[in-house]
Amino acid sequence: MSAGNSIKYCMDWGMKNRISRIINPETGRCVMLAVDHGYFQGPTTGLRNLGESVNPLLPYADAIMITGGALKNWINPAMNKPVVLRVSGGNSMELPDELSDEVITTNIEDAIRINASAITCSVYIGSPHQRQTIENLAKIVNEGNKYGIPVLAVTAVGRRLSQEGGKDAKDIVRNERYLGLASRICVEMGAHMVKTYYCDEFEKVVAACGNVPVVIAGGKKIDELDALKMAHNAVSAGARGVDMGRNVFQSDCPIGMIKATRAIVHDNAPVESAYDVYVMEKARSGKQ
Ligand code: 5RP
Repeated sequence: MSAGNSIKYCMDWGMKNRISRIINPETGRCVMLAVDHGYFQGPTTGLRNLGESVNPLLPYADAIMITGGALKNWINPAMNKPVVLRVSGGNSMELPDELSDEVITTNIEDAIRINASAITCSVYIGSPHQRQTIENLAKIVNEGNKYGIPVLAVTAVGRRLSQEGGKDAKDIVRNERYLGLASRICVEMGAHMVKTYYCDEFEKVVAACGNVPVVIAGGKKIDELDALKMAHNAVSAGARGVDMGRNVFQSDCPIGMIKATRAIVHDNAPVESAYDVYVMEKARSGKQ
């Protein structure tokens, strides 16, 4: 039995049940809405009033990725969507070369009190605090395993400091080699799901993760059609769905974008028909 299979069959009922709340057992896929950006970006565009932007999108999301603080401030506890709780932080846009300096900020007891269906933190492979962030992941995997709470590992792409001590920081290249390396490290640490960026030859990244489901982040806001193409390419290459943020909530029609993304992820819709879903919703809502 492969390592991935052994993890799969050792999961207890609670772990399986929580994963099934996030990844739809009928399609084996998931449209997660990522709105955790404020933990290091502050009141970012589209999330200044998080409740106003996010609450109307909840009916179309399979799960919401968010911090505990944002949840308590802006989301009604009566809502019934699984929460993927970000439990790391400590970094900010003010220190762009130190983005990898994350620690665990929320303990497992709080995650349980919040009724989290999963917990999540980022790893920054190739960045100055690589080891610390891998330790963060390993720690929450151990805690999650204790209580049957799955862990979504996020392969954040940071900056690598130059040998001269950081004066010449370079962005890390998002290719299948790097993302495959980062994602596989997460799997080896016991992550139950991996979130990474899309890249060419994405099937190699998926293969590097064995049986662990992989979802893609949307990344910076791009044209709606391009974002839908990316989601389509990702699921065609074996991704189990998306965990998208900016390409939904920064769109000129966020409901249209999340509905279109659902069509791709859950209904295997071609890009053109998914784009029509977005265009029609935009027209219907009078945004055109
Ligand atoms: C950073 C994160 C996010 O804050 C977020 O989830 C990214 O989503 P998107 O790129 O689609 O806006 O995980 O590493």
